[in-house]
Amino acid sequence: MPAADEPDEFETAPHLPPARFVTFEGGEGVGKSTQIRRLLGHLARLGVAAVRTREPGGTPKAEAIRSFILQGRSEEWGAAAEAVLFAAARHDHVMQLIVPNLEAGKWVLSDRFADSTRAYQGLTGGVDDKTIDALEELALDGHQPDLTFLLDMEPEAAFRRVAQRAEEDGVPTVPDRFEKEGIEYHRRLRDGFLTIAVRNPGRCVVVAADGDENAVAAEIWRIVRERFPELTDLDEHVAVNGHAQDGFAGSGE
Ligand code: TYD
Repeated sequence: MPAADEPDEFETAPHLPPARFVTFEGGEGVGKSTQIRRLLGHLARLGVAAVRTREPGGTPKAEAIRSFILQGRSEEWGAAAEAVLFAAARHDHVMQLIVPNLEAGKWVLSDRFADSTRAYQGLTGGVDDKTIDALEELALDGHQPDLTFLLDMEPEAAFRRVAQRAEEDGVPTVPDRFEKEGIEYHRRLRDGFLTIAVRNPGRCVVVAADGDENAVAAEIWRIVRERFPELTDLDEHVAVNGHAQDGFAGSGE
């Protein structure tokens, strides 16, 4: 309770919501980066500071590991060695970027995270659960996402979307280490992600990603607000006052 001489606004103003760590997962071409951009826009409207990042990568060391793997240089080492490399990149990403931003009060939205290792190298690549669990424990050091969106669609449709985008952009794409795998691989990958969602119902939400971009963005925003009700208080504050609460001036990067 505030002391009697404190202003009323102190009690009624919405509190600074805790910064949240949200990850986006799924196969190739399901629209993760578009939907992260849309969520950043919603958060910015409420004045919630947020940063976007991606895996593999996000920090200079992790980006170095990214280019090594995606150029295909680790392919002959096998899925287990690749899982170790992804975990090494992730540990740096968690310690150098994710935790410091959360501690500074900024939401972190990551394009892929640990579930990608479990889906690609584990459930699809054949690395056993025990090894994936151990690597995850090491890399995350307890920093599990608060919420994970699994954007789900048939790989055939996702591939068509990627091809169409490349044609519109007029840039011929060179498939990376994983994109060049066949359709069967991508079907197993999709099943892998769905298995992860079933195993982690408290953290993961499956969103059908084959719909219209606006509809998918609206569904994601609905789920975020449902999961973090403190955002609704902020939204009401913005609606009444026409601006974000002082001190919330957020930057979507
Ligand atoms: P990227 O170009 O970022 O692909 P996308 O746009 O689909 O996210 O390349 C990342 C690739 O690395 C992608 O094919 C998924 C794969 N990957 C893994 O196999 N394991 C992992 O742990 C991560 C983070 C990514």
